[in-house]
Amino acid sequence: MTETLAADADFSDRDAAARAILTGNDRGGYTVPTAGLYPYQWNWDSAFASLGFAQFDLERAWREIETLFSGQWESGQVPHILFHKPDPGYFPGPDVWGCTGPIPSSGITQPPVALSFATRLLAADPALGAARFAALYPKMRKWAEWFLRWRRDEKGAIFVVHPWESGRDNAPDWDNAMDAIDPQGVGYYERRDTQHVDASMRPTKYDYDRYIWLVQRGKALEWDDARLAQDNPFRVADPTMHFILLRALRDLYAAGEAQGLDTAGMAEQLAELEAGAQALWNPGMGFYDSYNCANGIWSNALTNASFLCWFAGLDAPEMAQHLSRVLDAAPYGVPSLAPFDPRFDARRYWRGPTWGMMNMMIGEGASERGVALGEEVRKRTREVIARYGFVEYFDPMTGAAAGGKAFTWTAAVWLAWAGKEG
Ligand code: DGY
Repeated sequence: MTETLAADADFSDRDAAARAILTGNDRGGYTVPTAGLYPYQWNWDSAFASLGFAQFDLERAWREIETLFSGQWESGQVPHILFHKPDPGYFPGPDVWGCTGPIPSSGITQPPVALSFATRLLAADPALGAARFAALYPKMRKWAEWFLRWRRDEKGAIFVVHPWESGRDNAPDWDNAMDAIDPQGVGYYERRDTQHVDASMRPTKYDYDRYIWLVQRGKALEWDDARLAQDNPFRVADPTMHFILLRALRDLYAAGEAQGLDTAGMAEQLAELEAGAQALWNPGMGFYDSYNCANGIWSNALTNASFLCWFAGLDAPEMAQHLSRVLDAAPYGVPSLAPFDPRFDARRYWRGPTWGMMNMMIGEGASERGVALGEEVRKRTREVIARYGFVEYFDPMTGAAAGGKAFTWTAAVWLAWAGKEG
């Protein structure tokens, strides 16, 4: 590891800077991930924004999650993007998606970490939060149940129908399923992301053609869950979604019980998801992995999502040696793909860079399950943010800043976890 920052370094200026990023990205009831590149409300970014606001403005933190649920569909799905106000700087916008929910939106969802964070807002001030939590609770249960109904394969693993649904857009996890898509006919479109961020840090054209092709397919199927389950060629069982949903359901169940709310069926749902996690264990590689539901082919990819097992509440002692290996290979936090994998690309989004919010879920989960390296993950995340700023992600080998600037979830992770004294 490179020279570390002094143990007594004063980070108080960073706390203020992190709060300024959250308030600067606040658009009135919802927070954009960063101006320009992501100008709308993104689902799991918004959950982290809420957790960040909770460190200094709990009322605003609740509002973030309430606004997110104002876009919930009748089916229970909560979209991955809510297009509250038009912004020509982003593609693909609401017309490309063609959705008909209560707020113009995308047609897919994202990992439901908002459910877990809602329980943290409640714990922070039960008197302030009890009524707000109770009002959200049936909606949160409905979203969890939507996953169990529409995103669970026959082995019990939760799958995604678009790489963007997982949030790990260009991870190697999707390569096999993406190869099976022929994007001919996708037509002309203009990417806007590479006008905001260097193309070497973003997904390739090969990936983008397939992202847009999948959006067009979903729109043609009118985003109907039953038709998507049958006619969408992309279905990949995903540890991100499975582990975060498992944690969400666990937290929701515990808080529901404590608040005297209706928890009927939740113990069974939890047990089923715990059992389903076994399907994500790749026996050949000896770690948690994703697989293509169409053919059962494993990704053989040790990613940061593999290490969310502890956040899910699983005891997975075998994963500690893998974490140790990747931390030995990459000094600046848990890389999104192990550096010893030939597909590793240090700056290309989810094929190498380290992400503060993933590190938080990995580090916290590890510490909760008694894995000592959890604290090391926190220290390295603290160091890389303190040195290189509140950017979207970092090169895990050099720490260099990458992706968007003034990024909401990096600021939130600083306030809620990384910047706190252990
Ligand atoms: C994008 O546009 O790059 C987003 O990640 C989609 O969610």
